[in-house]
Amino acid sequence: LTAAVTLDPAFRIAPVNRRTFGSFVEHLGRAVYTGIYEPDHPSADKDGFRTDVLDLTREMGVTMVRYPGGNFVSGYRWEDGVGPCENRPVRRDLAWHSTETNEVGLDEFMRWARKAEVEPMMAVNLGTRGVAEALDVLEYANHPGGTRLSDMRAANGSVEPHDIKLWCLGNEMDGPWQLGHMSAREYGRLAVQTARAMRMTEPGLELVACGSSGSQMPTFGEWEATVLEEAYDEVDFISLHAYYEEYDGDLRSFLASAVDMDHFIDSVVATADYVRAKRGATKRIMLSFDEWNVWYLSRFQAAGPPTDWPVAPRLLEDHYHLADAVVVGNMLISLLRHSDRVTAACQAQLVNVIAPIMAEPGGPAWRQTTFHPFAETARTAKGEVLRVEAQSPTYETGRHGEVPVVDAVATYDAPAGQAAVFVVNRSTEETVQFDVDTRALGAQRVTACRTLSDPDPYVRNTAAEPDRVAPRSRDDAELADGRLRLSLPPVSWTVIELA
Ligand code: AHR
Repeated sequence: LTAAVTLDPAFRIAPVNRRTFGSFVEHLGRAVYTGIYEPDHPSADKDGFRTDVLDLTREMGVTMVRYPGGNFVSGYRWEDGVGPCENRPVRRDLAWHSTETNEVGLDEFMRWARKAEVEPMMAVNLGTRGVAEALDVLEYANHPGGTRLSDMRAANGSVEPHDIKLWCLGNEMDGPWQLGHMSAREYGRLAVQTARAMRMTEPGLELVACGSSGSQMPTFGEWEATVLEEAYDEVDFISLHAYYEEYDGDLRSFLASAVDMDHFIDSVVATADYVRAKRGATKRIMLSFDEWNVWYLSRFQAAGPPTDWPVAPRLLEDHYHLADAVVVGNMLISLLRHSDRVTAACQAQLVNVIAPIMAEPGGPAWRQTTFHPFAETARTAKGEVLRVEAQSPTYETGRHGEVPVVDAVATYDAPAGQAAVFVVNRSTEETVQFDVDTRALGAQRVTACRTLSDPDPYVRNTAAEPDRVAPRSRDDAELADGRLRLSLPPVSWTVIELA
């Protein structure tokens, strides 16, 4: 099989958004407790944060982290998590049937975010709460001082305002599982009222309205149109969430999951622009893909939530293999390709819960297979995203119809004279000869090339063997006369750097 792309700096889509490389820390399972926070851990710093997890977060190149949920936020009282720890109430978390100790809250998260060098993306509870509580948490977080809640923050040790710019107006309000689930019209009204009130205090906030929890939702499309009819002028983003898994051993379909992601994004762009046209608006709504990943949700659903109320139970601890990592790499290709409209994104989640980073209680932190394509893309994608129309053979899938075997995107950093090509081979059997026409770019040499592959698509990393699956550097990429040639093994993800 052969596939080809052409790199041309004239075919620019948009700048690479640093917010594309966001992640997510929810009060769920062991994401917070024994994830980012474990005061008794040998690596814990004076604030109780695991420095091994902080190191891996920075190594992964995460730029932004969404907090505190997720489904959790729809029952959360933010004030439970501030002030002296001994006074914080222990509560039931209905979303994950767990007990929340509230040892970590807003101020702790912000301290962690500064150490991790990430921008916070904060969610407010619009499930069991409303406009007043959203204003309260905003005042606590961002007001400089001289009011009850901002002075309370200062008294709690955070004298400087947290200055959080990006806020999610609730979470997955279209889902019947969500506390306070409502209709699109009801949510659109609540979102616009909350947004308006929040903007009355700070006009420069960036606000995300809930889109659909997935493109399979029965209200998908109609939900986005209705919410935006209500809230178009007051919000900046509409959210998208998507999780993929391999069903019934159908690896060929699973490897093409990004085809569905492309389609989902294109549909939401079309819906947002339909509302724009109807309103005669000039502003464009951007997309926040603030939950995306591989998640073996059907296994979680089959097991069911805990029946008691455990503290920080092992929940959603998916153990990823090579094919999962290739799909994650392909989803990043899809997100980059849509950089003109997807200007924020969060891989869900960061640690222990459907996560690229695993942290054993009292033990080591290690990289799952899915860590690698994220880290490599975050580090290498710079400058402008280039449109590359891949010429590729196709194959038939049960879930997505006929799909290209090869998918690719490129970035070009003109001032540095550097380009990068990100490419996957979705074939389960065939090696693909990949040709890159670099003549318009004038690239002289391949500065690095790394491939993530293995004869066994189901091979995994473990705490005992954490580097079993990792990108391997290769030196067989030939660039001559403006043409680069490289072989792509089956079920593989590759980055090629050019200068
Ligand atoms: O990321 C896990 C869960 O998936 C989140 O809490 C929820 O928003 C989504 O359904």
